Amino acid sequence: MVSVTSEDAASGGDHADLGDIQRQHWQSTYRANPAMYGETPSTPAIQAAQIFGAVGARTILELGAGHGRDALHFARAGFTVHATDFSEVGLRQLRERADGEAVEGLTTGIIDVRAPLPLPAASYDAVYAHMLLCMALSSEEICALVREIHRVLRPGGILFYTVRHTGDAHYGTGIDHGDDIFEQGGFAVHFFSRAFVDALAEGWDLRRIDDFEEGALPRRLWSVVQTRR
Ligand SMILES: C[S@@+](CC[C@H](N)C(=O)[O-])C[C@H]1O[C@@H](n2cnc3c(N)ncnc32)[C@H](O)[C@@H]1O
Repeated sequence: MVSVTSEDAASGGDHADLGDIQRQHWQSTYRANPAMYGETPSTPAIQAAQIFGAVGARTILELGAGHGRDALHFARAGFTVHATDFSEVGLRQLRERADGEAVEGLTTGIIDVRAPLPLPAASYDAVYAHMLLCMALSSEEICALVREIHRVLRPGGILFYTVRHTGDAHYGTGIDHGDDIFEQGGFAVHFFSRAFVDALAEGWDLRRIDDFEEGALPRRLWSVVQTRR
């Protein structure tokens, strides 16, 4: 049997290999730690729900929803939510919880954001992605994903995303995969520079960038809000 390790990916593999290894890692992590991010919504989700509600958004596409702490918050708040991730284990935990609470307006779908989004153009009022763009994605894949998000948003639609940035304590530590991707404890993270955030906002209206922290490290992140022209 041939097994591929993260170290192999670092020394000779490409980002596709790393992404596949990461998918297996997320699957086993969620299997071992159900609801690992807790039962309550994240701070960005609470802010995003307020922002989406204030502009009359009704439909939300969530990318990298995991076990759905935030998707559940949006659905409970009355939004129609399509929660997606490349981990079916995480999404199964989300569906079990949603069914247990009889939450309405929530669907799930397996989507790997390294490929074009399998969704129609101009079909969502808002896209939400908490700590998804900063996963093991190359800069090229992230740029392509933001173009895809632009395509699936309605004109005037909002993208709310969060990313770990170059001020994070883990930036520059662990296994260096290149392209500002560093791996610690099996989790590979693409740390964002401010210049990269600005580049991703070209052709959009950049509304706000806020600093925040999450978790014990703490992880240091930006939340970014930009609207489709
Ligand atoms: C840091 S976790 C955040 C989960 C969730 N947003 C939250 O905050 O509770 C990142 C999530 O992105 C997912 N993910 C990583 N790479 C992905 C990819 N290429 N396509 C889709 N999901 C991906 C992982 O499975 C994981 O659920």
